[in-house]
Amino acid sequence: MKIIRGKLAMMRWSLLQKAKGKRIAFVPTMGSLHEGHLSLVQKARKSADRVVVSIYVNPTQFGSGEDFDRYPRTLKRDAALLQAQGVDLLFAPVNMYESDTVMKIDPGPMQHLWCGATRPDHFSGVATIVLKLFNTVQPDVAIFGQKDAQQATILKRMVRELDVPVQMVVCPIVRDADGLALSSRNAYLTAEERAIAPTLYHALKSIQKAFRAGQTNASAVIEVASKMVKGSLEYLVAVDGDSLQPVKRLEKKVLLLGAMQLGRTRLIDNIRL
Ligand code: PAF
Repeated sequence: MKIIRGKLAMMRWSLLQKAKGKRIAFVPTMGSLHEGHLSLVQKARKSADRVVVSIYVNPTQFGSGEDFDRYPRTLKRDAALLQAQGVDLLFAPVNMYESDTVMKIDPGPMQHLWCGATRPDHFSGVATIVLKLFNTVQPDVAIFGQKDAQQATILKRMVRELDVPVQMVVCPIVRDADGLALSSRNAYLTAEERAIAPTLYHALKSIQKAFRAGQTNASAVIEVASKMVKGSLEYLVAVDGDSLQPVKRLEKKVLLLGAMQLGRTRLIDNIRL
């Protein structure tokens, strides 16, 4: 597996692959890789001739007081995992920004919903770095996880509205045996917090169960489910999967989103009805 740390070298490699007629699949990550990331890499492997994974802890998507400094950085271990998956190239830039950077993507009103209510600049930071990574890696296909549902929705919209020539693929959430969605931030949890962390997923599942039993009043079902969450619940909502706007009536295409704070760790999860 080749490792590249500079943007120009990355662009050159991609241009060379394209000149040879090779299609590139790209998995952007912030490292601290787990089975969820590896499932994206496996999807990438099946989607193109070359697989590029990036590892970059992007400063612009962290707010002040968030976990940018303590975000786990495990490059050696991650590189070994990616090599074992047959990844062709690891792009691990030291820095992606100019020292006088003023430009950023404005993802519009959707960025202020749900996670955006407590993380006001987060989705602008995500959209900006993903566009920069796309311009550098020039992938044909990009693979994201459904775990970050709001992120995936905003990025798909960015690609559509800004005519970015990349095919977007979103892969299912990978969970631990007790239902907890895999996340690099799970590493922060104490044993006590880890034991109650799956209650967010259990609450989402209970809404799905109630819907399957015939209940369609979203607020009534969500009120009952909220009581199952043992952490500090930030939001538990039923939304339209495209607009992310709340819905009153549960239907099959509805997306359930939840976020909670457990000590110093913020966890998110979602399921489709
Ligand atoms: O989902 C992530 O890991 C990050 O938000 C991403 C897409 C790599 C951008 O930094």
